[in-house]
Amino acid sequence: MKTLKKKLILDCDPGHDDAVAIMMAGNNPELDLLGITVVAGNQTLAKTVNNALKVTQHLDIDVDVYAGNARPLVREPMYAGFIHGESGLDGPVFETLNKEARPLHAVSFIINTLMNSDEKIILCPTGPLTNIAMAMRLEPRILEKIDRIVLMGGSYGFGNVTPAAEFNIVADPEAADIVFNSGVPIIMCGLDVTRKVSCYQNIIDRMNALGNTASTLFKDMMEFYNKNQKQVFGWDGGPLHDPVTIAYLLDESILKLNHCHCEVDTNKGPSYGRTNCDLFNMQKKKPNVHVAVDIDVDRFWDIVEKCLKHYS
Ligand code: BDR
Ligand code: CA
Repeated sequence: MKTLKKKLILDCDPGHDDAVAIMMAGNNPELDLLGITVVAGNQTLAKTVNNALKVTQHLDIDVDVYAGNARPLVREPMYAGFIHGESGLDGPVFETLNKEARPLHAVSFIINTLMNSDEKIILCPTGPLTNIAMAMRLEPRILEKIDRIVLMGGSYGFGNVTPAAEFNIVADPEAADIVFNSGVPIIMCGLDVTRKVSCYQNIIDRMNALGNTASTLFKDMMEFYNKNQKQVFGWDGGPLHDPVTIAYLLDESILKLNHCHCEVDTNKGPSYGRTNCDLFNMQKKKPNVHVAVDIDVDRFWDIVEKCLKHYS
């Protein structure tokens, strides 16, 4: 029987904002989180896997974690310790880790889950697209089993690693190129909208007032995150990038989308990893991405708060 819950796989590289995305997708009566697959990105794979395990164990989220690729497809690895710290999730103190990743590669988990499902499944990548691209290349029949890809990545404006490129795309541009040309419907939640959801102190206080495990973790993570955001970008409230994907799945009306052609720059020049979005259809090329161009900020924070209330 068809369920009403949206089935999804979260592919992430925790990371503070990935951790909030996990928090929102986990224990959520409106979503069926089939598994968390992890990729290197904000930190090394060993660290991002550990962080996914720590968050799910701490919040008692009943979901398996799968380790994926430790390196991008072509380029040398790059990490974002300057934002997320040495562990990739500095700030909160977690209890000793008892949970382990499942002994199956994330790419195999993605392929098996899609191929064995009668229903289409949503992929929600919030890190570099290495695992997703590799799954597409290894088993192209998965393409028709993917309902859509709702990803955090890219920007039609400025980048956050180079003037041109956003972290998740520039960390593996060749993988992003494969995914963007896969023919699967893509919703791109880029910096253009994620930079609008700034986690100011009043938001931290609002979430913390819920007084549960998730809200305390939110506060501990965001206070660290904001320190680095201030240092690197000069902002008082760090953008909560990755949770925009989950918020969109819970209420699709929060984003305004532009269906257009988007091409990832894979030339190794100054714009390597840039997502060139033809918002004005100047090139008359077939649209391949629904690019988010605006977000209902108040509604976003209401959704985050509602998700945090699912914890005790
Ligand atoms: C993206 O890069 C990472 O540092 C964040 O977790 C987010 O996925 C923002 O550019
Ligand atoms: Ca991320």
